Formats: sequence, structure tokens, C-alpha cells
Amino acid sequence: MILVTGGAGFIGGNFVLDWLAGPAEAAESVINLDKLTYAGNLENLASLQGNPRHVFVQGDIGDSALVARLLAEHRPRAVINFAAESHVDRSIHGAEDFIQTNIVGTFRLLEAVRAHWTALPADEKSAFRFLHVSTDEVYGSLAPDAPAFTETHGFEPNSPYSASKAASDHLVRAWHHTHGLPVLTTNCSNNYGPLHFPEKLIPLMIVNALAGKPLPVYGDGMQVRDWLYVKDHCSAIRRVLEGGRLGETYNVGGWNEKPNLEIVHTVCALLDELRPRSDGQPYASQISYVKDRPGHDRRYAIDARKIERELGWKPAETFESGIRKTVQWYLDHPDWVANVQSGSYRQWVQTQYEAPVSA
Ligand code: NAD
Ligand code: TYD
Repeated sequence: MILVTGGAGFIGGNFVLDWLAGPAEAAESVINLDKLTYAGNLENLASLQGNPRHVFVQGDIGDSALVARLLAEHRPRAVINFAAESHVDRSIHGAEDFIQTNIVGTFRLLEAVRAHWTALPADEKSAFRFLHVSTDEVYGSLAPDAPAFTETHGFEPNSPYSASKAASDHLVRAWHHTHGLPVLTTNCSNNYGPLHFPEKLIPLMIVNALAGKPLPVYGDGMQVRDWLYVKDHCSAIRRVLEGGRLGETYNVGGWNEKPNLEIVHTVCALLDELRPRSDGQPYASQISYVKDRPGHDRRYAIDARKIERELGWKPAETFESGIRKTVQWYLDHPDWVANVQSGSYRQWVQTQYEAPVSA
């Protein structure tokens, strides 16, 4: 079996669902350790209720005793670490949780895993893997014509979020070089797809558009991100887990660089087609330019040739196919949307968007 952390969130949830979707006799069981912060949602895993191959444990990756107990009880052959605070804007408003989970939590998780791994018999020890899921944001921001990030690009994180992820990547690397822990790291570009919490650009635009609310575009909307459909990220992680070279990092991306404004217009056009507004107006009329994010990175782009060359991984979805599936998923799941739009989510939206600069 494998131990997944953060498996009630967006990417971890998709990963667990995909992992367990295979034929029962082929797929390994999953222990899913998740703290259930505002971003963790057990509804993402509702289809696994009663599935004996999914063991959910609510808890913190920083709880050394709990992690040690889970490792000893279940003896997973791999740990895949998705657990993190993941939203840049939240990290600007308050970085404490990011430091605690992304840095201290990763450190404690590494230490618990190291203690467990050190004591394993030789065959289990050599088969064991610790896969750390990270982001392209650790590399900082690219000039418009600069080549895309390769794995040797220096770390230049600019937000509290990316700095905390960079720190965790460094810890993972050090635990390999110093302690020999069999680690793998993936640095992926922006994901989108089902189960994406509507604080991030694409789901926020879909949800706001349907609710008749403004579509808040930061600054001039010309910041560039490289978008990857979440299921493709999950398949890349599975490939790296099975075939990645120990201690290596693999950049994962969709070869889909697009400015935010183009993303927002694409979402609007799909909604115009699939769920036209009752007044016949285009959803793009709801676009509203708001004040820019402090320290906003201008461009990310991933060079994903290493994972393709070494492990034969390529994304299956184009942006056009992936974004259509995504918009359709949100149209088909109004209850999921309604349920996540409560509590701390509502307060957050209020704090973040109270001062639009123009309409
Ligand atoms: P998310 O915020 O949707 O989910 C994070 C999950 O981790 C939640 O279920 C949350 O409850 C859980 N969690 C938080 N703190 C925890 C703790 N201390 N102990 C246990 N569980 C905890 O995030 P996501 O978008 O699914 O991202 C998952 C991972 O992938 C993160 O490490 C993130 O840095 C990385 N990543 C994300 C993207 C992206 O576009 N979303 C891109 C590249 C890399
Ligand atoms: P986001 O989804 O928060 O991901 P990240 O900051 O990790 O890349 O944001 C993606 C891009 O969209 C980023 O350039 C910020 C921008 N953005 C907006 O313009 N408006 C919004 O309301 C949000 C949430 C993001």
C-alpha cells in the first residue's frame, strides 16, 4: 500500500481517486492522511465510501507520533506528499500556516519516514520511495522571452507560498544527500480540473460567472501560467514513482503557456456555449480588473523534456479538451460548489476582493 498526504485536497483527491479506479486486484490500498483544513474536503472522496482499499485518517503531517504509528501499522511502500498550504494570496495575508505545514510539517514527515525507513529490512528498504509534490513557483518569475524552467534553474521564490515550498524541496533534497532517504521530487505547473477549490483562478471564474458575480482579473491580466490538466499531473506522479531516479527532480508541465486574460475569456466562451446567460449577454461582460497581487510573478513556463525523455511521460489532454471537461464538471456538480462555498471560504472572498480598482 501507499501513504498519501493531503489526499482530500484538489490534486491529492484526484490522485487517490485515479489510483483506486483500477481493477480491485491490481490497485494497491491507500492510507490517506489529511488534516482537513479549509481546502480538504471529504466530499471529494465520497465515491470511496465503503471501499476497503481506502483508509482515511484525519491528522497533521507534523504529528510525528501519528505518522510513525501509521507507517509502523501499514508499512506502505511509498509516501506521496501532497499536503501543503497552497494558495499564494492566502500566504500574502498570513504566512504562518505555510511555514508550519510546508516547512515544519515536511521536516517532521521526513524525520518520521527516515526513522521508519532506516529500520526496514533490506528488500523493503531499497523498494521504498518518498515522493514530494512541488511547484514550478520555486523557480521564480521568467522574462517574456526567457527559456522555460528546467530542473537546473536556480530557486528564486517570490511569494511566501513559493518560498515555503522551496524550503521544503531543499529539505527533501538534503534528506536524500545526507541520510540517503530514497526521495523523488516533482515540480509542476498550474493544475486545473475537477475538485479545484474555487479560490484559484479557473474555478473561481466558473463559479463567479454562473453566480452573476464579477470575474476579478489581477492587474492587466497578462501574467502567464503554464496549465496542466490535473489527471495528467497524477499520471506524471505515478510515472515518477515507478521509474524516477532517486534524488532527482522532474519538471511537469502541459506546454500550455497562456495569459490569465485568455484563460478567463476561454472559460467565458465555454459557458456562453454550454450555459448561456438568460439575458443573452456574454459572460465576459462580468470581467472586472482589480488591484494586482503584491509581488505577482509575471510568467511561469515548464520545460518538461526530462520527464518525457527519461520516463516517456506526456500530457494526454490539450488545454482545449481539458478546459472543456473542467467547465462541464462544474456545471454538473452544483452541489459540490454550494457545499464548499461556506464558512471560511466566504470570509476569504470578502477579505480578498473588497476593493476593485475598476469595473
Ligand atoms: P489543496 O490546497 O487543494 O490541498 C491541500 C490538502 O492538504 C488539503 O486537503 C489539506 O487539508 C491538506 N493539508 C494541509 N495542511 C496539512 C497538514 N499539515 N497535514 C495534513 N494535511 C494537510 O492543494 P493542491 O492544489 O491539491 O496541491 C497539492 C500539492 O501540489 C501541494 O503541495 C502544492 O504545493 C502542489 N502543487 C499544486 C499545484 C496547483 O496548481 N494546485 C501545482 C503544482 C504543485
Ligand atoms: P492562482 O490560481 O491563484 O495560481 P498561482 O498564483 O499559484 O499561479 O492564480 C493564477 C493566476 O491568476 C495568477 O497569475 C493570479 C491570477 N488570478 C487573478 O487574476 N484573479 C484571481 O481572482 C485569482 C485567484 C488569480
